[in-house]
Amino acid sequence: MRPAESTLLPPEVRQARTMLSAQELELLYTLARDSYTGRGEIIDGGAFLGGSTLALATGLRDNPRVAERAGRVHSYDIFVADHFARQFVDGVPEGASTRPVYDRTIADVASFVTVHEGDIATFPWPEPTPIEILFIDVAKSWETNDFLVAQFFPRLIPGVSTVIQQDYHWPHTPWISITMELLADHVTYMGSMPWATAYYRWERPLAPGELPARLRDLGADRLRALAARAQRFEPGGREWTAQQCNLVSLCLSLGQVDDAVAIFDATVSAAPAWVDYFKYAPALPARA
Ligand SMILES: C[S@@+](CC[C@H](N)C(=O)[O-])C[C@H]1O[C@@H](n2cnc3c(N)ncnc32)[C@H](O)[C@@H]1O
Repeated sequence: MRPAESTLLPPEVRQARTMLSAQELELLYTLARDSYTGRGEIIDGGAFLGGSTLALATGLRDNPRVAERAGRVHSYDIFVADHFARQFVDGVPEGASTRPVYDRTIADVASFVTVHEGDIATFPWPEPTPIEILFIDVAKSWETNDFLVAQFFPRLIPGVSTVIQQDYHWPHTPWISITMELLADHVTYMGSMPWATAYYRWERPLAPGELPARLRDLGADRLRALAARAQRFEPGGREWTAQQCNLVSLCLSLGQVDDAVAIFDATVSAAPAWVDYFKYAPALPARA
């Protein structure tokens, strides 16, 4: 569902230029409005033109129980237009700053927001400050994912915090399902939303040193086992196809090209329309 079709969202969120679906925005809005207690901060990791920021900040605005609201939504982005930006902002050249569009979008709720402009990995989280809502739409590489796991996850509040992984049911990001498998004893899966979100309640704290500084240090066998365990979806369906594509991406990043080819071919046979929908076209050796 497109944001404009939502009957739940405030009008300004319905009109936002965003990569999120109405259901994903509704999740952010209702978490900030109905569940947020104010015990921790709200992370908006990957703000783009401000759609997720607006959903979280209007939810906070409409939350009558939290008194201290200034700057509680921490928005992160590099704010540089890529090739996607043109689909949302007419004529914006690649490389231009998107910050003016973002600032206009969130203007009415800007007092609730602290903006961190630049690579998120250059903003270490102030250690003792708890995090209550962790929205992740910025884990686009192994390295960024490592940063998020090291800096943000240890600050989650057991029994209170929510983790939203926006790229869970999407190809190209194998580290996300691997991370959530690794954290299986720390979270309860709460549900999924179109387009690609899975979200979790944070249940148990991390012990110091429990997770590797770099996920890839787990080694190929463990990474493959965790990625295989994450594949629990109905074969041939959308979610299954996303995890299959993530397995292909993982094999390629591990140099396991034969396995990548075999998994990709099996996926195309079982779910050609979904592979097409995801426009998933990995760089594989040519075959007869
Ligand atoms: C899928 S978009 C976010 C969509 C947004 N949540 C919305 O509501 O439309 C991902 C964003 O992450 C940002 N990004 C990617 N890597 C980043 C990094 N290392 N540090 C900060 N921002 C980054 C991109 O600039 C992009 O705007």
